[in-house]
Amino acid sequence: MNGLSAKDSITVLAIESSCDETACAVVRDGRTVLSNVIATQIEIHRRFGGVVPEIASRNHTLAIENVVKEAMERANVTKDDIDAIAVTYGAGLLGALLVGVNFAKGLAYAWGKPLFAVSHVKGHIAANYIDSDLEPPYLCLLASGGHTAIVKVEDYERITLLASSRDDAAGEAFDKVARVLGLPYPGGPEIQKKAREGKVAFDMPIPKSSGLDDLYFSYSGLKTYVINLVHRLEQRGEELPAGDIAASFQNAAISQLIDGLRVAMKSTGIRKIAIAGGVSANEELRRRADGLSEDGAEVRYPKLIYCTDNAAMIGAEAYFMIRSGAQESGLSLDAKATVPLA
Ligand code: KG4
Ligand code: ZN
Repeated sequence: MNGLSAKDSITVLAIESSCDETACAVVRDGRTVLSNVIATQIEIHRRFGGVVPEIASRNHTLAIENVVKEAMERANVTKDDIDAIAVTYGAGLLGALLVGVNFAKGLAYAWGKPLFAVSHVKGHIAANYIDSDLEPPYLCLLASGGHTAIVKVEDYERITLLASSRDDAAGEAFDKVARVLGLPYPGGPEIQKKAREGKVAFDMPIPKSSGLDDLYFSYSGLKTYVINLVHRLEQRGEELPAGDIAASFQNAAISQLIDGLRVAMKSTGIRKIAIAGGVSANEELRRRADGLSEDGAEVRYPKLIYCTDNAAMIGAEAYFMIRSGAQESGLSLDAKATVPLA
């Protein structure tokens, strides 16, 4: 239990620094965002073609104080209005996580507030509660740079893993394929843009599952297919049909996720679906997910700003943890590079 259970309303200040976004948000009762500040380092890492962990940590250190101050100002709150501090403790880049964790610990100690350690992945799922009335039980498709999975959210804090990726994550595949096509980091939005210029001209591999027992995701075969295709075309001296390759890859990558959702819906009988993680920003995924309504699905996804990394989702998850009686984490809290999904 924690000391907040008697409170009618809970306002959380949340911090997120697991990858290349330094973020802070003030969130009321898990669903109302009072402020959401994100300092992104995308431009800094772009020239390296991906996130450089050491550079990410240093830039978090430079940004975090101002990001937190700005979140407090924009929410128009003082420390007296804050009931709890929440921070992403994992999964992510260890050095990057440590910046947020240590700043949050300092704040909790100085202000005398309880501290709650939040899983980044659970945060992505909880992004679906913001500005919405979504309640468990539902199925959640999680597709980010580090994870691809379908989970059953039985209750706010009771989550069962139904399927996950055997190799690369969906977002990781978008990033790698973008690189092969000469598109900048992060690859997801770039592939989406390029795909609009082309058509599905290549028949790319899509793993098939017949039921929940053999339901899994795999992106390594698809990635290798694109690498081999590009090499072959380059060797022949042909111009790369980048639009067609992007459209065909996006189609195969998204088909796998939608097929997986169909299997999970059929096997569990659950029709309420939420989509989370950076790839949930993808327009083709949203279009195809909307199409699941023909199978009787009720589909939710977060607003675009809450799909990719942000602290509002961490504040939302912290609220439901607190209401479910989660223990405060002490000042000995440590960052973790990996955290179990469910
Ligand atoms: O959730 P997120 O911001 O960070 C992780 O927790 O990994 O996800 C980042 C991933 C990247 O791989 C990025 O390319 C992908 O999400 N992504 C997209 C789109 N926007 C971001 N993938 C496909 N289409 C998009 N529009
Ligand atoms: Zn993320």
